Amino acid sequence: MMKLVATIASLLTLSQATSNREGLLASAQTYVTAQKTGNTSTLKLSPSFRYQQNNKERALSAGLLATPYALDLVRSTADTVACASYTMWISTSGGKPYVVGTQIRHENNTETISLIDTIAATTGDLFFDAKKTLGYIQKEDWTPINNTASIPSRELLRKVGDAYLDMWTDPKAADSIPWGTECERVEGSRYTSPCGKSLPRGGSSKPNGMRRYVIDEVQGSVDVLCQFDSLGTMPDSYEIRVIDGKVKYVHTITALNVG
Ligand SMILES: *[C@@H]1O[C@H](CO)[C@@H](O)[C@H](O)[C@H]1NC(C)=O
Ligand SMILES: *[C@@H]1O[C@H](CO)[C@@H](O)[C@H](O)[C@H]1NC(C)=O
Ligand SMILES: *[C@@H]1O[C@H](CO)[C@@H](O)[C@H](O)[C@H]1NC(C)=O
Repeated sequence: MMKLVATIASLLTLSQATSNREGLLASAQTYVTAQKTGNTSTLKLSPSFRYQQNNKERALSAGLLATPYALDLVRSTADTVACASYTMWISTSGGKPYVVGTQIRHENNTETISLIDTIAATTGDLFFDAKKTLGYIQKEDWTPINNTASIPSRELLRKVGDAYLDMWTDPKAADSIPWGTECERVEGSRYTSPCGKSLPRGGSSKPNGMRRYVIDEVQGSVDVLCQFDSLGTMPDSYEIRVIDGKVKYVHTITALNVG
């Protein structure tokens, strides 16, 4: 009996430890280390683990993690409700440059990883130029939101993420987004400021599908991985940061060469 109680207590500790920010970010860091070394043996994977790259399931050994990459930029966010994280990384050197967005999901609030879900763009993909993207993103301010009164709600972040993806099908979506006056949009390596300029206002009848969310209220950000169905079937990542209730940054990573 004592042993059972102790086991349950340790399970509870584990689930608390991993659904908190630090646990999720530490797990994201193990992914970053695996990517830098090309060695996945230290990842804590669930027996039901799956790997997806550009919306296609494949073996871990057949994906990006099988090769070491020198990373010029790495930034992670955490979703303590979904028990998931999002990591963006950029590699400009080596054989092939990459800009990557990866969501990591944990099953049953354990530290074990059940899904690594990656959108990866490289040479030939939409507006791809890793050095240019790096230049823009390095200059951004990703310090945590200082003013706790202005931490956006989960609902707002989710709404902004959805409205962004709905712009191609819903003519009203673009104007429902609270654009900041100094908002910067980096689509691949294409830079637009302010963000609220030249946006789509409907036109397609196909909503963007397969949406997967990582919502981080502390950073004020949402990342949505999806299939860009409105204008094709492209694997896509949209990350949006909201500061003081207004959109400050938008990043998109769009793969065209799904291979
Ligand atoms: C991967 O890492 C493990 C644990 O550190 C180590 O034992 C193994 O030799 C490494 N594999 C390769 C191919 O470097
Ligand atoms: C998660 O919970 C489900 C339902 O209880 C169970 O079937 C599954 O094996 C669990 N997975 C892990 C990794 O514990
Ligand atoms: C937090 O405060 C610092 C120092 O005043 C400022 O530089 C930074 O932009 C603030 N960050 C956010 C996200 O508000």
